[in-house]
Amino acid sequence: MAAGDLSWGRHFLCCRPTHFGVLYEINPWMHAEVAVDPDRALAQWEGLVATLRRAGATVDEITQDEEVPDLVFTANAGVVSGSTFVPAHFRHPERQPETERFATWFADRGFSVERLPAELGHEGAGDALPFGADDRGSAPVLLSGYRFRSDAAATTPLSVLTGAIVRPLELVDERLYHLDITFCPLDDRCALCAPVGWDRYGTKAIESLVPEPLWLTDTEALSFTANSVVVGTTVVMPEVPPRVGRQLEAWGFDPVAVDVGEFLKAGGACRCLTLALDVDLVAPTGGP
Ligand code: ARG
Repeated sequence: MAAGDLSWGRHFLCCRPTHFGVLYEINPWMHAEVAVDPDRALAQWEGLVATLRRAGATVDEITQDEEVPDLVFTANAGVVSGSTFVPAHFRHPERQPETERFATWFADRGFSVERLPAELGHEGAGDALPFGADDRGSAPVLLSGYRFRSDAAATTPLSVLTGAIVRPLELVDERLYHLDITFCPLDDRCALCAPVGWDRYGTKAIESLVPEPLWLTDTEALSFTANSVVVGTTVVMPEVPPRVGRQLEAWGFDPVAVDVGEFLKAGGACRCLTLALDVDLVAPTGGP
């Protein structure tokens, strides 16, 4: 498979930041005394969405209200597989009111909303990314990050509800608290990988899963380089470190930087601001 052949990532859910702000602190990047510029946040978000659309994606919107400043990070809404939606169970009470807003959005659009057991935490696609479906129709593996926001015990229920092969991956660095800050699938062979976020076992697991990893340095990882969105051959990134940009171009990708500085104040970048709606975790034949 060539660059641009990712089977998903052409239809996204995003949330216009009408009520975005850093109003509480639930990750090491958030400092409530640091003000968000609402106009700049809106302009940055519009820039991101315009870039996704230019790259060929369709973008749907969910509306925000003052109770849910982090709803803009739609990656955490839940896990999508075909017409099934498994809503997130947020670790922190501050984000828990988001669950029903997302569940309603999906139910209204005909998705079957399937719930995880109440006691299990899982923060959606922010902690769950598919890797490795091929053009012969095999099912991808759903990598599921756990520890800071999601529970390892959610692995089996997530697999039962979505039909996916779910592989848990422990996150070890609090600054990289969601899987999507450590890992970005590019196609069925290549991915941006931030080993600073994993232990040696996790890194070995990635080595055996990903034929061509682009290993990020700690500095690149901590600049949210892996928190990028792939639309065909376009890779929409919070910044393009020159070394990473050269490798992406050598593989046939077109890296594009989009300024999401206001959202970095809340510990999120490009990927966090999107949820792919066109993910199917089950092989068409019904088996791996
Ligand atoms: N402030 C949000 C939180 O701490 C940021 C979420 C980032 N989302 C992501 N998918 N990494 O929950």
